[in-house]
Amino acid sequence: MKRVFFPLFQKYVMPSACKCDAGRMEKERQDLERKVRRDRLERHYKRNIISDSLKRASFENFIIRRGTENVFNEAKKFADTFDTQQLGLVLYGKPGNGKSHLMASIHHELDKRGFVCLFLDVSQLFNIAKDTFKFSSKVSLTDIITAAVDCDLLTLDEIGSGILSETEFNDILFPIINGRMGKKTNYSTNLDLNRLSKWFEKGRNGEQLDVDGRLIDRIIGSCRVFENMATSKRHEDALKRMYD
Ligand SMILES: Nc1ncnc2c1ncn2[C@@H]1O[C@H](COP(=O)(O)OP(=O)(O)OP(=O)(O)O)[C@@H](O)[C@H]1O
Ligand SMILES: [Mg+2]
Repeated sequence: MKRVFFPLFQKYVMPSACKCDAGRMEKERQDLERKVRRDRLERHYKRNIISDSLKRASFENFIIRRGTENVFNEAKKFADTFDTQQLGLVLYGKPGNGKSHLMASIHHELDKRGFVCLFLDVSQLFNIAKDTFKFSSKVSLTDIITAAVDCDLLTLDEIGSGILSETEFNDILFPIINGRMGKKTNYSTNLDLNRLSKWFEKGRNGEQLDVDGRLIDRIIGSCRVFENMATSKRHEDALKRMYD
């Protein structure tokens, strides 16, 4: 910023920026900082990581079916008021009823508005993270974790499917979720909180992972939890195809 010389006081002074200049400068600083984080995210998560059907998901093409009213409203409100929201969302419920659709809608909406967003199926996250163990990998596990921790909104889709390994829990999920304390993370799952808590407890070889519930405690503490009560839209569509 240019300094101005005041001969009377024999002093250089920094003229204070007017409010609109200060606002513009703050916006420029924020845009630049987001660009750095977005570039890093795109470098480290190169694969096309969102499925084609979820790429097209939006609030506009979500049909409000019975049992989805509340989750739709909460998801929409979350996207509309992202800046002032303190907590993320957990959407749980039966398969095929639109949880990932709503999570992807939030992701696309915020991405369009310039926020740095990452949408990951949890099993895909594990594969991407484990690829870094290969000798030929140019990306390290720390890169993957740092990019997931740094984004404005992380969506962990389908958490709670399969059985965790020690590496998946200790080296991937825990550092990401723990590192995001104070940031917003959204989760979709088929499991209610009791079952999700159990999912974290034991590994695939029966080993103890999180018997004290450290991760579920962090998730509950940083999210609002809603059940999608609808039946499967996938099932409904399949029936329609059969009888049309
Ligand atoms: N209410 C809805 N309106 C429009 N499309 C929907 C609706 N619910 C689900 N779908 C579509 O049905 C398919 C399955 O939905 P989605 O993947 O969101 O289900 P899910 O609840 O995440 O299931 P799962 O628990 O198995 O992961 C997707 O193609 C999605 O776009
Ligand atoms: Mg899903």
